[in-house]
Amino acid sequence: MIKKKVNIAVFISGRGTNLRALILKSKKKSCNYKIAYVISNKKNATGLKIAKKNKILTKIISQSFLKTEQKELAKILINKDIKFICLAGFMKILSSYFINFFKNKIINIHPSLLPKYKGLNTHQRALEAKEKFSGCTIHYVSKKLDSGKIIAKKKVKILKKDTIKKLEKRVLKAENKLYPLVLEKLTTS
Ligand code: GRF
Repeated sequence: MIKKKVNIAVFISGRGTNLRALILKSKKKSCNYKIAYVISNKKNATGLKIAKKNKILTKIISQSFLKTEQKELAKILINKDIKFICLAGFMKILSSYFINFFKNKIINIHPSLLPKYKGLNTHQRALEAKEKFSGCTIHYVSKKLDSGKIIAKKKVKILKKDTIKKLEKRVLKAENKLYPLVLEKLTTS
């Protein structure tokens, strides 16, 4: 019997390396999920090209992405049978309505070991604080930024000669490995 894969929507604003990693894994026969929809608030996001190349349906949302538009999008996602939403470099704040509507169904990846370094410039701040480790965290999305329940973390050692760029590159590699694994687990029933 062929098992139906769980439909996932990925929200992006840019580069899309995490999106690519999620897609790559989804192509495996044994994978439980399918990336069914990619949403971007930037029409020139590189991630959109990745989605299109993989024949995934895409949607551009407005820059303001106001509450009414979020309500409309919630309906569309339900109609498309989307079961989980993965934020992957999505630079917009979701409304309380949207977060409550998809309670415990929206996850995000953040480039630090949360609860440390919420928000932006995480690598710079970790280096300035002379941390021994940085890494990435996957968490449920709640109303407070980068503060929802933590699902998984992956540590990355900070090296003596690290620069923001070098550290970012290694953390991103860890993100690209962790995100598909976590999503696979969450979609296994
Ligand atoms: C990642 O570092 C992610 O943790 C952060 O935004 C970046 C997105 O990268 N939230 P990409 O677009 O997936 O390459």
